[in-house]
Amino acid sequence: MRLFLAIQLQDYFADTLLDLQDRWRAIGVRGHFTPAEKLHLTLAFIGEYGNPDDVMDALSQISFRPFTMRLDGAGNFHDTYWAGIEPSKDLLQCAQRIRHVLAENNIPYDRRKFAPHITLVRKGECLTGMTRMLENLPSAAMEVREFSLLRSDRGKNGMIYTPIGSILAD
Ligand code: 2AM
Repeated sequence: MRLFLAIQLQDYFADTLLDLQDRWRAIGVRGHFTPAEKLHLTLAFIGEYGNPDDVMDALSQISFRPFTMRLDGAGNFHDTYWAGIEPSKDLLQCAQRIRHVLAENNIPYDRRKFAPHITLVRKGECLTGMTRMLENLPSAAMEVREFSLLRSDRGKNGMIYTPIGSILAD
């Protein structure tokens, strides 16, 4: 099964991103807009791995304090458009600890540098230009009290993300 670790969003924080998607639609952005229930911030992408219990056991070693995460800009990578998340010390440390524990336990993960973002549009097209998309970006903050192990399956209408377990802050 395909696994990843992510922070799931509180409703009001997700609502801010849905408003931003609406604004982008209104200025002519087209593509597959991520629906509310699928918005998340990935901390580490494991990929195909058969034993989620091993992953949960390994992660149970992690303790962390609740911390605040904030929106920070937006951008695109090819045809994927995202909202940025401030790379705060606490967030970087959380991702770093997770990755360290995965490595120590020989659980594979994508080793590319952590670039905190929330994907808002896939296969997007921006007819008006990026500059307009970046105008009046919203601000929002939420307290992170847990992160989750999710499995990702291909459904009829795109990927389906199912939480398997969570690690709670102290
Ligand atoms: P993305 O939104 O930028 O595509 C589930 O696929 C989650 O894991 C998505 O948030 C995805 O990021 C992220 N992810 C990170 N590395 C990935 C990889 N190598 N393949 C697929 N998804 C990856």
